[in-house]
Amino acid sequence: MQSTRRKLVVEGGSSIVDFDNKAFKPIPQAGIDLAVEAMQAGVMYRYQPKSKEASITANLEHAFANYIGVKHAVGTNSCGSAMFIALNIADVQPGDKILTNAFTFHAVPSVIQHARAVPVLVESNREWGMDAEDLDRKAAASGAKVLLMSYMRGHVPDMDAVMEVVRKHNLIFIEDCAHAYETRWNGQFLGTFGEIGCFSTQSSKGMSAGEGGLFITNNDEYAAKAVLYAGSYERLWLKHFDLDHQMMDMLQNQVPGYSMRMQEVTAAMLTPQIARLPVIKDIHVRNWNLLHSLINDHPNIEIPMPLPQVDSFCDTMQFHLVGLSRDDADRFIDAMKQEGVPMQIFGAKRNARDFRQWEYIEAHKDELKDTIANIEFACDLSLQPHLTEDNIRVIAQVIQDVLAYINGE
Ligand SMILES: Cc1ncc(COP(=O)(O)O)c(C=O)c1O
Repeated sequence: MQSTRRKLVVEGGSSIVDFDNKAFKPIPQAGIDLAVEAMQAGVMYRYQPKSKEASITANLEHAFANYIGVKHAVGTNSCGSAMFIALNIADVQPGDKILTNAFTFHAVPSVIQHARAVPVLVESNREWGMDAEDLDRKAAASGAKVLLMSYMRGHVPDMDAVMEVVRKHNLIFIEDCAHAYETRWNGQFLGTFGEIGCFSTQSSKGMSAGEGGLFITNNDEYAAKAVLYAGSYERLWLKHFDLDHQMMDMLQNQVPGYSMRMQEVTAAMLTPQIARLPVIKDIHVRNWNLLHSLINDHPNIEIPMPLPQVDSFCDTMQFHLVGLSRDDADRFIDAMKQEGVPMQIFGAKRNARDFRQWEYIEAHKDELKDTIANIEFACDLSLQPHLTEDNIRVIAQVIQDVLAYINGE
């Protein structure tokens, strides 16, 4: 039965999409001005300014630490670097086992491999957070002492249950907050539950500078070591706020420097973005709720809801396609792309978020049945903050039209 539905691009029709849902956020003008000033002065290296007060990077670190409510933040050249530094601070040795998510981006197992350690992959639940019961089992079975947990796409597991496992097994807990800006559990910022939190400022993230990362901690010694691992030498650490000078003098030549520093231009681009986070979060939440209300009732769509304790950033939306074959799910993705709303399925087409693609690690990959079930038909849609209410309505319309086409309506 052919209805009056409009013809899709795949049927020789035309698209109704005149925007790019994946376009990244521009840098606020104040950040551009600050970066240009630094470049014009030739002061791009973070330790060039004469004092910490004059350093854009030191000021950014100080402001980010204040915003999150922790004692220390250290700028790095990526979140991967921040996590690598964290594993070094945790004294991870080659061959050590590290508990981590089976569902995350490949940067995370890559960092574990970079430290020559061995990931122990923990199952995800239907809402894509880490399964605390499997974490408990794997912690007991592996004897691992470190947990590097991702809040992949901002999804938060039951943090009370996770923290119980962390305490029970005395784990060093490192939080990968690359996707968890402005995200809270019971009012507490993610990144402050473990010993160390790591944020990304790569362009698709909540704070965006092309590349970059931020390492946060309340532990003075970890902060001191992070500064040194990132590449502070001699007494350059004087150009940081909030460090313990006695400790720095003692540690100065004991810790190698891995050249993972943030640079002034990166910090300049990020400086006005801290205050922008709650502003763009409001847009994200509004758009996410609207899209949810428009597509949630569709019989082929399942949108698992976060636990009530979670306050999410909502800069992306994920949903499971239900009742479709593998072929039809792949046709859905192809048609969405042709309509101008590109999205991906985590568990298909050699996606870097599918653990079965991480050929460089040895892992019990066949046993992770829950994660396979939870990524196989999981669609991932970017909802950048330039999207208007009208744009969201168009996205919902396109999703519904394409599903009707797939269903032969
Ligand atoms: C979940 C997750 N963790 C960590 C990273 C690493 O971030 P970066 O590119 O800043 O190293 C990414 C990158 O996209 C990511 O998606």
